[in-house]
Amino acid sequence: LSIPDLIAKKRDGLELSPNEIQQFIAGLSNGDVQDCHVGAMLMAIYIQGMTEREICSMTMSMRDSGERLSWPNYRGIVVDKHSTGGIGDKISIPLAPALAACQMKVPMMSGRGLGITGGTLDKLESIPGYQTQLTDEQIVQLISNVGCGIFSQSVKLNPADRYLYSIRDVTATVPSNALIVSSILSKKAIEDLDGLVLDIKYGSSAFMKTPENAEVLANWLFKVSELLGMKTCCYITEMNNPIGYCIGNALEIQESLDLMKYKQGHSADLEDLICEQGGRLLLLTNKAQTIEQGREMIRDTFKNGSALQKFHDMIIGQGVSPSIAAQLISNDEKAVQSILKLSDVTHQAISTQKGYVQSIASFNLGTIVQRLGGGRLKSTDKLDFSVGIRLLKHVGDSVQENEPWAILYAPHDASKRYPSFLDDLNSSLVVSLTPVQPLQRIYK
Ligand code: URA
Repeated sequence: LSIPDLIAKKRDGLELSPNEIQQFIAGLSNGDVQDCHVGAMLMAIYIQGMTEREICSMTMSMRDSGERLSWPNYRGIVVDKHSTGGIGDKISIPLAPALAACQMKVPMMSGRGLGITGGTLDKLESIPGYQTQLTDEQIVQLISNVGCGIFSQSVKLNPADRYLYSIRDVTATVPSNALIVSSILSKKAIEDLDGLVLDIKYGSSAFMKTPENAEVLANWLFKVSELLGMKTCCYITEMNNPIGYCIGNALEIQESLDLMKYKQGHSADLEDLICEQGGRLLLLTNKAQTIEQGREMIRDTFKNGSALQKFHDMIIGQGVSPSIAAQLISNDEKAVQSILKLSDVTHQAISTQKGYVQSIASFNLGTIVQRLGGGRLKSTDKLDFSVGIRLLKHVGDSVQENEPWAILYAPHDASKRYPSFLDDLNSSLVVSLTPVQPLQRIYK
């Protein structure tokens, strides 16, 4: 069939054969498929869904669209974690170095922002010099010498996901089980893993709005990853409220550094999720005997500075100058701020009520950051790393009337970019008159 015929077949709800899916994915690289075809096919898949056979074929065709990594010398210790995306979700950034500090190998092929959710690679690019596109040789060196690397798909590694991902981001076709499963697992299947943790988010700012829908996605991810021979554990976690205190590219790197420095006041919420998921990977690969032991092994890498040192070595291995890396891991806060610059235009969000924080609408906050330049509306958009929101409160904290609960770092032309940004910010805090329990992030 021609490419338009393949699109029509999917549009009409018919099943594409493995060969037809393979033809479409190959067309992304050989020039047979253009952006308009991709947009139309993605929307057809979004609307019609895919059968199990189609999802498996799509994942395998994407995995095979480029080269694969292989780690014969590190059998048993190659692990990774991937999330479906959330607001303030910077878990991968401290987790990869923490695992490397536990002698694991973490070849983490990560993603950019999708819709309102921030992307690990975008956040890391707020560090001057950080290269996300690495050659196979660079990845092998990084994994051998440091133990972890966080990099992108490339013309050689999963070019199909690289292409589809950028078009999904701007065509309202992200929240599709078929597209999420094939995108995530095609990347993970290239990495030659011994253990994988997947974090499937549900909530107002996640692609899956309810825990039930997240569970359906988790079951798909689990089933296909098993078929691909990966030992996987799925978490379903809450994503109505932001993770940690920071949202925005440079800000989230600052928050990740604070955790790796084990600074007072770092986010316990963030730390606990990282320890849980990292600990699970240690358990999956028999490096820990119990989940409790695994969690403490990860926590220790933050307390003793070994994760921070691995982060330093990783970013140098990915192009950052030794002097910038040294300043970032130092306790010189001014030096860190001068590298991870935030906008000097700030707005405070003020509570209009006294009580306890019941919820913080992460959907609004993610949208504000995206619309003010921290995320993309077109695939060619350049990000403004200096935009972000720092929360001063978490769910369960007490708050006074007229007390600031968040600071927005905004561009000079914020009102032009997103006229309702201040109203949306101020309406994002929900206060209860009675005490509120801290969040339970893990649903299942
Ligand atoms: N992360 C990915 O890599 N792909 C998705 O589709 C969603 C989250």
